[in-house]
Amino acid sequence: MIPDNVIEEIKVRNDIADVIGTYVTLKRAGSNMNGLCPFHNEKTPSFTVFNGTQSFYCFGCGAAGDVVTFIRKIENLDYVEALRFLAKRSGVNIPEEEQSGGVRRTRIYEMNKAAARFFRSQLLSSSEAKEYIVKRGLDKRTVDRFGLGYSGTRGFELINHLKELGYTEDEMVVAKLAGKGERGYYPFFRNRVMFPIIDTAGAILGFGGRVMDNSLPKYLNTPDTPAFNKGRNLFALNYAKDNCKECLILCEGYMDVIAMHAAGFTNAVATLGTALTQEQARLIKRYTSKVILSYDGDRAGKAATDRASKILTEVGIDVRILQVSGAKDPDEYIKAYGADAFARLIKGSETKFDFVLKGVLAKYDVATDDGKIKASKELCSEIATVDSAVERELYIHKTSKELGISRESVEGDVKKALRLKNRERAGAFEKKLQNKALGIGDKINPEHSANPKAVAAEEAILGIMMLYPERTAEIAEGKTELSEDDFVTGFNKRVFSALIKLYSEGKRDVGALGAEFTQEEMNRVYEIQVKRNGLDSQSETVLKDNLYALKNAKAALETDIDKIIKAKLMGS
Ligand code: GTP
Ligand code: MN
Repeated sequence: MIPDNVIEEIKVRNDIADVIGTYVTLKRAGSNMNGLCPFHNEKTPSFTVFNGTQSFYCFGCGAAGDVVTFIRKIENLDYVEALRFLAKRSGVNIPEEEQSGGVRRTRIYEMNKAAARFFRSQLLSSSEAKEYIVKRGLDKRTVDRFGLGYSGTRGFELINHLKELGYTEDEMVVAKLAGKGERGYYPFFRNRVMFPIIDTAGAILGFGGRVMDNSLPKYLNTPDTPAFNKGRNLFALNYAKDNCKECLILCEGYMDVIAMHAAGFTNAVATLGTALTQEQARLIKRYTSKVILSYDGDRAGKAATDRASKILTEVGIDVRILQVSGAKDPDEYIKAYGADAFARLIKGSETKFDFVLKGVLAKYDVATDDGKIKASKELCSEIATVDSAVERELYIHKTSKELGISRESVEGDVKKALRLKNRERAGAFEKKLQNKALGIGDKINPEHSANPKAVAAEEAILGIMMLYPERTAEIAEGKTELSEDDFVTGFNKRVFSALIKLYSEGKRDVGALGAEFTQEEMNRVYEIQVKRNGLDSQSETVLKDNLYALKNAKAALETDIDKIIKAKLMGS
């Protein structure tokens, strides 16, 4: 753990507006600053930085936090990494050793490195694994470059080897190289070809392991560990990052990436056995602004293409879609038709619209009226999703040409589709606001919708506590008639207790709660704070009013419960 005084120093030396200002163009708005939110795509600024409380809040997407949260989100780091990042930025020294999950992250990296070395040596001594590698067309250069290996027939070989190196079995369990069951420790990977997953700094985060026959599961991936998060990393980004300025190729499978690199396309990466996440999209954005999606040609691959294209577009990445035909996936395509043919596919990769157009033309017979109508409808609603007016113009032209319909009609239908979309969006937004006020679908505080009045009072109280330390001091000293027991909802009760604890330890910085609360929960904590900002010049009176309201809500609830219990007793 990083000592509290060091955390405080890091925060003092990293003014939130300074730090955020290096990522977002901020303009002064009263005593605050605002700009375009870096966490969602928007055209009017709803991202606000509060200098007074050193926090930020986006009225559009609800992202909120302090300077550490901001760095966590924008740089894809965990809490401790973000602190290190800020420490480095401002020249604060922090002690090297850090504990995570009882085992240091660097210790897991070392263990993984030793495991990867061992897997490689196992590959050389297994004729079955060597045969499989040859069968998959992998030459020595590729095997070396990707550090491929073999887990051994039974897998216990690794456990023994790591023990000899001085690692304990419990440490192996933390690294997810081993598991622990009723009959003792067992190896996580058995009889699999191993693919190390390496981050951009060269650390081995974990492994993918593939069976050599048709048994299931085909791939086993290291589950998340203190050193590894599947949604935050990409396979082969350690190599691709230096070759992807122009564009990056994103595929589904490890084998696709390896085949591409072997064929000279060294800008290919893959997700780690899960669908693309927003965090991965932002990670990609740090290295390039153009992505060619090269997923499998089957129906699942097309659906995944759709989803990924949306996520990438949202973070402002220019997306092209590459479709393989005559082969199941890029790996098989390259094997069957060669690197030159694949290079032509890259050259011919198309925009999302062209991808949809191709699908529509294959689906409907546009020589018939009925086909024309259906095709036009789908294409117009696709065009309506495009932000750029220039692009829309181009696609309208294309649609009119392909379907043999006048430009004016297509344009008219697109306008209609746009209006409909805007209305739907506005409706959905209204609905969202309404639901939010009523607490419907509140995942952070699931008791919200059943207790909207109590929650309103609770949040007002918590907001005042965060903004006016003197009020919190009074509460902590028992000067107000408010205690943990007055809180109705569990989440707010937790926040209350954590705040009291924080203040009693002499701390004032809400960000310190980040050690106990998840990032989503911290968003809520900051939202509660931001909502009260500048509202309560009479904090003492407002606090009293809300205390009264909360006690009333709680009393009403208890009467209800009494009634239910009584009714039950009488009924039985
Ligand atoms: P092969 O060519 O068959 O070796 O695999 P591939 O690299 O083409 O992978 P495929 O397209 O079958 O799957 C894409 C990716 O999904 C793989 O690289 C894995 O990351 C992941 N994956 C596939 N099968 C499984 C599975 O059974 N379990 C898990 N967790 N992930 C899988
Ligand atoms: Mn494959």
